[in-house]
Amino acid sequence: MLKIGVLASGRGSNFQSIINSIESGFLKAEISVLITDNPDAYAVRRAESHNIEALIMRLEEFPDKDSYYAHIADVLNNKDVGLVILAGFMRVVGRPLIKVFQNKIMNIHPALLPALPGLHGQKQAVEYGLKISGCTVHFVDEGVDTGPVIIQAAVPVYEDDTEDSLSERILKQEHRIFPFAIKLYAEGRLSVKGRKVIIDAPREDSVICSLPLSDSR
Ligand code: GRF
Repeated sequence: MLKIGVLASGRGSNFQSIINSIESGFLKAEISVLITDNPDAYAVRRAESHNIEALIMRLEEFPDKDSYYAHIADVLNNKDVGLVILAGFMRVVGRPLIKVFQNKIMNIHPALLPALPGLHGQKQAVEYGLKISGCTVHFVDEGVDTGPVIIQAAVPVYEDDTEDSLSERILKQEHRIFPFAIKLYAEGRLSVKGRKVIIDAPREDSVICSLPLSDSR
């Protein structure tokens, strides 16, 4: 069974959606460890209440960024982790981890990449006056939100949206598509060819790759 290592820095609602997907039987995988750079992360409490080991690793306690990520890679390797999930991990992951887990690290981003990479995708969408935004699950490469796209979900942006109201609408979709992307991976249905992620799934299943504007108020 696929072993997952989760990296999170904060509230961990995506982490929770993955836990729920496993507990409901939707996703056949196990979470081996949560690693956080923030001792106060609510994600740690979620781990504790589901008997998942939580390790606090602060960047400040390492001589440099490379040794920090090399250590994380070692820990994950020793636990036989096959897939690393960035669930609100608020750092750009360093090369030593990416090299060891090439196309085995997934991130969720709150915008339709390649639009609005970086921080505050929801605020940027509102301020830009976009009519559509959404979220993207992608493999992680060395850039900021530049890796191959796995699946995306779109939501409408309304004229009176605030950063918070749009974030909430996008978050609902994050909680749907992140477990789904992990499920596809766990079932061996994802392959990466250059920039493209090929999904081995019937077209009906892949409708989630381009979700209709189903969200209504
Ligand atoms: C989400 O908006 C996600 O898209 C971004 O960070 C946030 C994490 O939220 N990468 P949570 O900690 O999973 O609740």
